[in-house]
Amino acid sequence: MIDVRDTARMRMRYHVTTFGCQMNEHDSERMRGMLDALGYSEADSRAEADLILFNTCSIRESADNRLIAHLGEAKRLKREDPSRIVGVGGCWAQSLKDEVFERFPFVDVAFGPGQVNRLADFLLSDSLSAQGYFEFESFTGDLPAKRGRATQGWLQISVGCNCRCAYCIVPSTRGLEVSRPLQDLVAEARAMADDGVCEITLLGQNVNSYGRDLRPTRASFAELLGELDAIGGLERIRYTSPHPKDMREDVIRAHAELRSLCEHIHLPLQSGSSRVLRAMRRTYDRERYLDRVALIREYVPDVALTTDIIVGFPGETEADFEQTLEVVDAVGYDGGFTFLFSPRRGTEAATVTTGLVSHDVKLARMERLLELVQRRARERAQRFVGRTVEVLVEGESRTDPERLRGRSRHNKVVNFTGLARPGEFAMVSVTAATSQTLAGEERIAARAVG
Ligand code: SAH
Ligand code: SF4
Ligand code: F3S
Repeated sequence: MIDVRDTARMRMRYHVTTFGCQMNEHDSERMRGMLDALGYSEADSRAEADLILFNTCSIRESADNRLIAHLGEAKRLKREDPSRIVGVGGCWAQSLKDEVFERFPFVDVAFGPGQVNRLADFLLSDSLSAQGYFEFESFTGDLPAKRGRATQGWLQISVGCNCRCAYCIVPSTRGLEVSRPLQDLVAEARAMADDGVCEITLLGQNVNSYGRDLRPTRASFAELLGELDAIGGLERIRYTSPHPKDMREDVIRAHAELRSLCEHIHLPLQSGSSRVLRAMRRTYDRERYLDRVALIREYVPDVALTTDIIVGFPGETEADFEQTLEVVDAVGYDGGFTFLFSPRRGTEAATVTTGLVSHDVKLARMERLLELVQRRARERAQRFVGRTVEVLVEGESRTDPERLRGRSRHNKVVNFTGLARPGEFAMVSVTAATSQTLAGEERIAARAVG
């Protein structure tokens, strides 16, 4: 017999806004999958939703500020219709815990990244007010999926992080590292492939330390890559993010040997100064990082490398910053994300009071760094001009709806004219390249079958 509450839920609609990294994108897909399974349906806008959800990030202060602006709208909508439910999940919620309710009384439910399953308990409970869930309980990867794209999927291989980078809030929001069992991951990837997924991205805070905590049998990241590569139908495997300290030769070799592992590695540098890296507690120095890059290029000479760099970490001198510029110039990244250091509550770096870098100096350094990152990326991208690259089509080009957009195996965005449909592979002959994108034309005769 159907409960009255079940039929009421059938008419309930939800809306999810996602901030932050790809892990949050993944977690939001699982939230959607869980809500669909409960009988909810998705609304196009917050105003049309009975359940307004935010999946939050707290990595930098700018992330917090962006969220506060959105929460203002939820507050207004809740005032208009108090039966609406406002939920806040993710890292920002976890970092504030029950304080969320004191500071934002219109929030009905708050939960951390390890308690997304509890959202269901909350919605099924009789008391729909001010409940918080913050102890790690389960992988979001075990919840039902609702993929944003039919042919691309995320695979959550681990949660949490055992590192203690001095600037980073993630270990306190996502907890200690826990790996999902290897056979579960292989089964999930196989099910995705059977369902038409041809590109998967493995997710974890530190993917290449995967499996060390598994009992009774440990597993390694390279082993996992090998097992996934053997799955028919999976054409491309990507992962993010690896840590340079755990970038072992077996993983690097896998890039040369496994057909589906893409020729792209995101290898966060953070700083090119060994002194700053030590203060950041990154546990590698400039030499070790450059040695990893050399080994990667030995196995996969054409690999695309991208990175993350923080500017203005406490104590960073002009000489330290110049060392970062040197490394960027020497490595020649295909792209990079650059961030101004932002002190986060509860982190070691937020307690430092000496050697702080002024905002103006941070901005000036950022400008110099960006100029170099982009120049090197533009130079690197020229190697693709004249080549034919395989592109997995994602949809229309963002700037010109007459053209298509997709990504190459090197993770370059490619805008091109052609007839392929989203989810298909196209062979594109590249005619021009900027620091960010490639442009070209589809070679119809050479269309690959995905
Ligand atoms: N687990 C990933 C990092 C996730 S955070 C890894 O280790 O690579 C993504 C990036 O945000 C980091 O690589 C770092 O460059 C940046 N970041 C993290 N905390 C920051 C802070 N407090 N201020 C500025 N940038 C930060
Ligand atoms: Fe944060 Fe460092 Fe862990 Fe990455 S490795 S999530 S930067 S603590
Ligand atoms: Fe943000 Fe949490 Fe990801 S702080 S970057 S959503 S792990």
